[in-house]
Amino acid sequence: MPRTLTLAGGLALWSAIAMASDSAPQVEPGRATELERLVIQDCGSCHGLTLKGGLGRAITPDLMQHYDRHDLRDIILDGIPGTAMPPWRPLMTEADALWIADYLRGETP
Ligand code: HEC
Repeated sequence: MPRTLTLAGGLALWSAIAMASDSAPQVEPGRATELERLVIQDCGSCHGLTLKGGLGRAITPDLMQHYDRHDLRDIILDGIPGTAMPPWRPLMTEADALWIADYLRGETP
């Protein structure tokens, strides 16, 4: 289901927030904007728009800080086999996934 969701959409609010995040180190600013939209729209489709849980568990910064950033990157890239958590490797690079890991841990500006 979520694979068919589009990255397009561009809610003005999220664009404004994404612009404030342009200094994220690992990826280009434009990619960071796209990844932030992906987290809200695609991850949010299962984890809730505010990431507080839905079909998938809550993935808020207070919870995600307990993960090593590389472990979190691997969960994002490979998914969790046997659950609805899909692998995202076909849609992003390792640097992208690491950016999302940091984003989820509340560590991107
Ligand atoms: C199709 C629904 C779905 C989508 C889309 C989805 N997830 Fe998940 N995710 C799940 C489910 C279900 C689980 C819980 C799996 C389990 O029971 O262990 C999960 C688990 C996780 C976990 C582990 C949480 C924990 O407490 O250990 C992380 C991190 C995570 N997802 C991140 C993401 C990110 C980042 C995205 C977007 C790139 C994403 N998910 C998109 C369904 C989804």
